[in-house]
Amino acid sequence: MKTERIRGFFKGVKDSFLVGSINPLRFQLAASQDISNYPNFYLICKIKHEAHLLDKAVKNPYSPGRATARKEYLAALLNELDKRNLDFIEVSNWAYEILGKYDIWTKEKTSQMLLGDDVFKALPELAVPSIRFWKEGTPPESQIIECINSGQMASASCNRQAFLIKVVANDNQNFDGEGARNASMFAAAPYRVFIYYNVNNYSEKYAAMIDIGMFAQNFVLKAKNLGLGTCCCYASEHLDHGQAYWKKKLDLSNEYYCGLTILVGIPKEVVNKPPRIETKKIVEFIRA
Ligand SMILES: Cc1cc2nc3c(=O)[nH]c(=O)nc-3n(C[C@H](O)[C@H](O)[C@H](O)COP(=O)(O)O)c2cc1C
Repeated sequence: MKTERIRGFFKGVKDSFLVGSINPLRFQLAASQDISNYPNFYLICKIKHEAHLLDKAVKNPYSPGRATARKEYLAALLNELDKRNLDFIEVSNWAYEILGKYDIWTKEKTSQMLLGDDVFKALPELAVPSIRFWKEGTPPESQIIECINSGQMASASCNRQAFLIKVVANDNQNFDGEGARNASMFAAAPYRVFIYYNVNNYSEKYAAMIDIGMFAQNFVLKAKNLGLGTCCCYASEHLDHGQAYWKKKLDLSNEYYCGLTILVGIPKEVVNKPPRIETKKIVEFIRA
């Protein structure tokens, strides 16, 4: 664990330097503590995070050794949860299911996703699944406009709505190596919607990103309503080519910053919605 902590520290410092935030360092230091020292709520959310990433990993074509370390880490986290005797069965059952999927993936060596037409079946009204596998075909531009229009209807701080939307239409959907990695999804999705905001309109630290989140939630709800699949994808430091590349390609000045991209297409994956922690476990009413 000592070596992991040192490795985590250096990775954290490097990533923090690259993205100009101490979050990566904080993230690494928390994760590289001994698991027995993880606070309960951190442990549960870490299980959600790691199970999500393992679930995504096994949707990719099999390759030996891939995701093995993650699988072992998840198993260790679950072991710790079991030891503590905490009641988070909704999360642990799902995470154990994903460990099972990993075993099938390594035995059968085939991507572990469910393809089908009934994509949104049995999902509650506000549940929007991320779709990572697309059918061939391009939804009409008018539907993308409808989604953007719904995004514009969301609340935005001080009603600024300093958004600029660039839609990259992909006429050459490429399904080689289809999987859940961002690069393969970008190649296969017919649309990639970039949500930019004007940095000069905001003096606050977080307001712009919250505005983008509100916009995006309306967007994906509308898309689901139209039968379209979406996958929100990080922007900024996680974009495939980075901010500078896309700004140049999309002919945008430095005032603009992309907060999020959303892939849109015709869905062909039936997604299991990961469970949420039982609501009452994250709520406390305090009497004034
Ligand atoms: C801000 C943000 C960034 C995300 N970035 C990615 C991404 O880069 N790649 C990806 O496959 N999914 C990404 N997602 C999708 C989430 O991992 C997750 O699948 C999504 O929120 C749907 O929730 P569900 O898995 O509970 O259905 C992102 C979601 C959000 C809100």
